[in-house]
Amino acid sequence: MQHRTLTLNYLELDSPSDLPAQDLELLHSARNAAIDAYAPYSGFRVGAAVLLDDGTVVKGNNQENAAFPSGLCAERVALFAAAAQYPAQKVVAIAITAISREGEINEPIPPCGACRQVMQETESRTGQSLRVIMAGNAGKVIILDSAANLLPFAFTFKISPNES
Ligand code: THU
Repeated sequence: MQHRTLTLNYLELDSPSDLPAQDLELLHSARNAAIDAYAPYSGFRVGAAVLLDDGTVVKGNNQENAAFPSGLCAERVALFAAAAQYPAQKVVAIAITAISREGEINEPIPPCGACRQVMQETESRTGQSLRVIMAGNAGKVIILDSAANLLPFAFTFKISPNES
């Protein structure tokens, strides 16, 4: 029997204003996306902005539905939209933020497990590390150089893809 330990490397900043310009711009896009989220049921508006290799930014926000499971998280809306519209582009970074019905959120908003799984496969599919930037409107910021750090023991079993 072996006891093993996983180490998680990430950066923590005191405030969004400490971010490098490109990350801050991406976070602003995520905030704009959050403002436009369709979240009448939870009142929790999440915004994500994805930066592609060529500088294109694709925004996503959570989309809810009266038939609850029919909705989708902001991160997957953004990542799937990017893959659909720019299939040849690598995804370099994703910024995530949220606004609550109760007011501003001033802490990082980590993505749910399903979104982590999609981020992980985005990385493996494109061979490009995905930088993840999480922040509220103010307060500390968390940055990971790779989405793989968010999902140890990810499901990576590959069923042989059909030729297409
Ligand atoms: N949500 C996201 O958009 N991203 C996450 O990573 C977690 C949760 C959304 C789903 C739902 O519309 C609302 O936040 C409340 O859970």
